[in-house]
Amino acid sequence: MRGEDDKPTLSPHVRPATKANEAMHPVVMSEAAFTSKLLRDAAYYADDTILILNMDVREGIDLLAKADVEVNCVVTSPPFYGQRDYEVDRQIGLEAHPSEFISTLADVFDAIGASILAANGSLWVNIGDTYWSGKGEHKSGESKQSARRFGVRPQDKKGDGKWCVPKQLLLIPHRLAIELQDRGWLVRNDNVWVKPNPIPDQVRDRCSMSHEYVFHFVKERWYYFDKNSVGRSSDNGTVLPPLDTWELPPVRGPARRHRARFSEELVRIPILTTTPPRGVVLDPFAGSGTSLIFARKHGFRAIGIDAKQSYCETMVDQLNQVSEEEIDGADD
Ligand SMILES: C[S@@+](CC[C@H](N)C(=O)[O-])C[C@H]1O[C@@H](n2cnc3c(N)ncnc32)[C@H](O)[C@@H]1O
Repeated sequence: MRGEDDKPTLSPHVRPATKANEAMHPVVMSEAAFTSKLLRDAAYYADDTILILNMDVREGIDLLAKADVEVNCVVTSPPFYGQRDYEVDRQIGLEAHPSEFISTLADVFDAIGASILAANGSLWVNIGDTYWSGKGEHKSGESKQSARRFGVRPQDKKGDGKWCVPKQLLLIPHRLAIELQDRGWLVRNDNVWVKPNPIPDQVRDRCSMSHEYVFHFVKERWYYFDKNSVGRSSDNGTVLPPLDTWELPPVRGPARRHRARFSEELVRIPILTTTPPRGVVLDPFAGSGTSLIFARKHGFRAIGIDAKQSYCETMVDQLNQVSEEEIDGADD
């Protein structure tokens, strides 16, 4: 064994390989692993930079792990508790009790953390909250989207008398964050998405809700984070990190695409700060494919999983549009 005194002396021009330095130079997955036969055979859609899996999220994670996939940034908006019936097998979001929803989602993120997220990668989760209603089935001819299907909403049933009592804000976002923290994840931010001019709540005894969260989790103390592309300039010219409050209008537009889609602006900071060049972004509840579209536009590779076939179809259409725009742009 070499003694302390025999340590090689580094030239003054060589920076020591600290954990912090190493995290800032992540190795990204090879092209061969991304385009492996195992993945192509199972994919709903695959090209050299995009992979779409139309299956239950847990099956998708197992498959990616089997193919030795390693992703750098996971950004997603899982189904919110009690909000929508996506009418797919094993769907997440309509569990009878919120604690069941939290543990199911935490299991999904844990499986991703254990098998496919790089050690220096990041997980970003956009999630909103839900009130327990306990009112029974709605009879009012509620004008909200039919996908909400009030007969199946867990929060309309009689509650447990504890968390689940009428008018209770369930604190789902922070319960999920605390569960993940208890399981060993590091919580770096509870970024708040502030929605100017939201659709008003029909309530008279509380404030109208106008925010959601975008939690940033990491697995280890040292991880890849590049603030330069999204930072703010200070008076002395240095780059400050972005703030943790993001004021962005909600997406409106044809419901045909996806009723609960998020805006490309919402994934801008997550993807640009925590995906290294040519890195891989994963959205395990990809819906209409917003994260994949943003990733493609910025030169990253991306993987989307969604259980609903019509959303996978939408994703492919949207991605083809981006490719066509790129070709048109190249002709200019
Ligand atoms: C809130 S939406 C995601 C919207 C997406 N961010 C967008 O911009 O379009 C949640 C998605 O989770 C999907 N989903 C629900 N349960 C699932 C499951 N068990 N496995 C995979 N996908 C699931 C739904 O089909 C839905 O598209």
